Amino acid sequence: MGSVRQLLCRRWLFGQNKRRWFTRSSRCMTTMSAWVIDKYGSNEVLRFTKNASFPIIHYPNEVVVKVFAAGLNSFDVNMRGGYGATTLSMKRDPLNIKQSGSEFPLILGRDVSGVIMECGLDVRYFRERDEVWAAIPPWRQGSLAEFVVLSANEVSHKPKSLSHTEAAAIPYVATAAWSALVNTGGLSKDNCSNKRILILGGSGGVGTFAVQMLKVWGAHVTVTCSQNAEQFVKELGADYVVDYTAGPVEEPLSALEKFDLILDNIGGDTERWALNLLKPWSGAKYVTLVTPFIQNTDRLGIADGMMQTAATLATKALKHLVKGVHYRWGFFAPSGPALDEIREMVDAGQIRPVVEETFRFSQVPQALEKVEKGHSRGKTVVQISKGGGDL
Ligand SMILES: NC(=O)c1ccc[n+]([C@@H]2O[C@H](COP(=O)([O-])OP(=O)(O)OC[C@H]3O[C@@H](n4cnc5c(N)ncnc54)[C@H](OP(=O)(O)O)[C@@H]3O)[C@@H](O)[C@H]2O)c1
Repeated sequence: MGSVRQLLCRRWLFGQNKRRWFTRSSRCMTTMSAWVIDKYGSNEVLRFTKNASFPIIHYPNEVVVKVFAAGLNSFDVNMRGGYGATTLSMKRDPLNIKQSGSEFPLILGRDVSGVIMECGLDVRYFRERDEVWAAIPPWRQGSLAEFVVLSANEVSHKPKSLSHTEAAAIPYVATAAWSALVNTGGLSKDNCSNKRILILGGSGGVGTFAVQMLKVWGAHVTVTCSQNAEQFVKELGADYVVDYTAGPVEEPLSALEKFDLILDNIGGDTERWALNLLKPWSGAKYVTLVTPFIQNTDRLGIADGMMQTAATLATKALKHLVKGVHYRWGFFAPSGPALDEIREMVDAGQIRPVVEETFRFSQVPQALEKVEKGHSRGKTVVQISKGGGDL
């Protein structure tokens, strides 16, 4: 399907086959229901409103999606508390024209599964009423709302085998794992066979997706997690599990054959010992998703924060390069084409969604509270509106 998307994009580039898809219904609407925040803080800042602004298409490649289900992540809890405020404000308003606080009322929710309501003039790959899923970039309004606007490049057709509730559990963690393993780590379905991969923190959202995808691609996967998640990650396909609650994991891990790639979902002091577990001088990579980039820019401002970040990354990369291993940072990157490929694995029954609990739209504060408590064995999903036969 990736090639169909490319073909249609090429048609768009050469200006052929111009057609316009849009609905009268959404053009008539000016407000919608949503959970918003008007300032950063704890769960008390959440406010339900029926008067949130209806999302508007600003660019010809954008689509409006009616939200059926929204997935929540720890990133939403962090965003509610102000994490990334400086960095995301710069992305929303690069010329710094607006007053501070112009991001409010802000809507959380990075995962969406729903139906396309309206397409911009240049959208070729989608049409009204297509069922879609997407991971929403953090600078856009989120999915805890009736409608959301997205670039068509960020959207993908939803797996047919999943309900909207199940589909909303996958995009954010899947695109984060894809970005770390494929874009940064250089892995693909064609080069994974028998590679030894270690996932530090394998029982969370990113880890459970990564284990399943790497197993589909033929890798040997070792995972660290707590003892009560051991059975769960083995059922997802993990070949070897090390319990981090039983003591320091570096000891049992160093007794194993060395690894071709490490995906670090834990951070902190793991960097001190984890790179010693890689095969030196063989192109082996350590990719961490826990980076100081956003903290630096929030704390020091964009210019100084980016300078500090670049200096830290360059120093660490060089320090490890001389020892024969690659040190990299991974970042969540919304991507429709990545979700197209993931959909094929899902519809082939190779990857399953891991939904731990489903909440109603009226229960968003309880849903975020659950995510905040952590240690879940799957995703928390909010059903926003009826549709897709799963409500
Ligand atoms: N850079 C980016 O763009 C980006 C994108 C996505 C995620 N991330 C980061 O990546 C990390 C993972 O995300 P996630 O969504 O998978 O988080 P998550 O769902 O909260 O999962 C984290 C898991 O780590 C386990 N854990 C905690 N301490 C551990 C340890 N010392 N060793 C092994 N496992 C441990 C916990 O499992 P137990 O219950 O078994 O203890 C928990 O399930 C987070 O820090 C997140 O902020 C970054």
